[in-house]
Amino acid sequence: MKLFPAKKTALLAAALAVTSTASAAGKLEIFSWWSGDEGPALEALVKLYKQRYPSVAVDNATVSGGAGTNAKAVLKTRMLGGTPPDSFQAHAGQELIGTWVVAGRMEDLGGLYKSEGWDKVFPKDLMGLISSKGGVWSVPVNVHRSNVMWYNPAKLRAWGVTAPKTWTEFLTTCNTLKRKGVAAPLVVGENWTQQHLWESVMIGTLGPQGWQNLWAGKTKFTDPKVVAGFTTFGKVMDCANKDASGLSWQQASDRIVDGTSAFNIMGDWAAGYFTTTKKLQPNSGFGWAASPGTGGTFVMLADSFGLPKGAKNRTEALNWLRLMGSKAGQDAFNPLKGSIAARTDSDLSKYNTYSKSAAADWKRNKIVGSMVHGAVAPESFMSAFGAVIDQFMASKNAQGAAAAAQQLATRSRVGQ
Ligand code: GAL
Repeated sequence: MKLFPAKKTALLAAALAVTSTASAAGKLEIFSWWSGDEGPALEALVKLYKQRYPSVAVDNATVSGGAGTNAKAVLKTRMLGGTPPDSFQAHAGQELIGTWVVAGRMEDLGGLYKSEGWDKVFPKDLMGLISSKGGVWSVPVNVHRSNVMWYNPAKLRAWGVTAPKTWTEFLTTCNTLKRKGVAAPLVVGENWTQQHLWESVMIGTLGPQGWQNLWAGKTKFTDPKVVAGFTTFGKVMDCANKDASGLSWQQASDRIVDGTSAFNIMGDWAAGYFTTTKKLQPNSGFGWAASPGTGGTFVMLADSFGLPKGAKNRTEALNWLRLMGSKAGQDAFNPLKGSIAARTDSDLSKYNTYSKSAAADWKRNKIVGSMVHGAVAPESFMSAFGAVIDQFMASKNAQGAAAAAQQLATRSRVGQ
């Protein structure tokens, strides 16, 4: 569907192009949790921005902490305190729409989408995640996959095991490895990485449709299948390291590289870490498979940036978003990040074997959204679910955890 007549689009694009190249000396503050080991992809994008707008001083403000656990809290105080960054990272989906858009804090970027012709280059489903009330509220820079199981191919060969395809098979493999002296066949890290694992176990138990029903409010958390998912999650956690709460996701990934543990379930930013930071080759340095029970399903999330109302450097921020949504920007960022481009026209020759396989799965798999990374659940659910996992780990009471999750879902109006 054409939203704008071609001539008008061209005129508008020309006008905006003038604005962007004419940008005089200025500043830009971008805000994210991509620091340290997570930084290189963003830095590549900042470098491109500086080439295009050499007179703009870029403040690449980051608050470290995987999955944005710390950054989101800082962002909240800044947004509520009236000092928003010029542009900030937020996951496409409920994290953006259910929080900042419903609160009326974001600018509608519909005009930018029209002038850049972006209505044609982003997949429809992804557009659905960033659109509401007739507006488009952020620019997605990537698509990450959450349901990936990582391993070290040489170590699996040495142990004589292969990547399990179901959670039942996983538990058998876990016992085999324990008998061979591997104390923790699975490595997990701090709380959010346990939630991340829970998500994969639950999708592997309920199937993609069952997962969607949960977030549509059609299936209750107290459903026996969900309870069974919690029980399996408990057994899977019995295969894990005992020092999980002190490990970042990168430290957990390190234990795959050094062969301390056999498996880690993590999003494909781990591929970025393995290739960009650790300089490992896909297939030899690290291996991957869909997390058990989720073959044929792609659990997606997308990092996006928006323009908060009251941004001090609005023109510079718009130029940042323009770059972020461009083909050149996405193909500079994503090969380093481990994600694939959100755009459908990216140049796959720039991507490694892992990313090419993710791109192929993105096209042919059943797509569902990640809870932990903002796509399907309201922020009020996400921010409190960590406590449900902590309590479950202490009690291993699956019924109790399911009931607590349902209470949370009701309070957060999941599916309404
Ligand atoms: C996710 C984010 C990824 C990556 C990961 C680990 O929430 O979408 O881009 O940063 O956290 O921090």
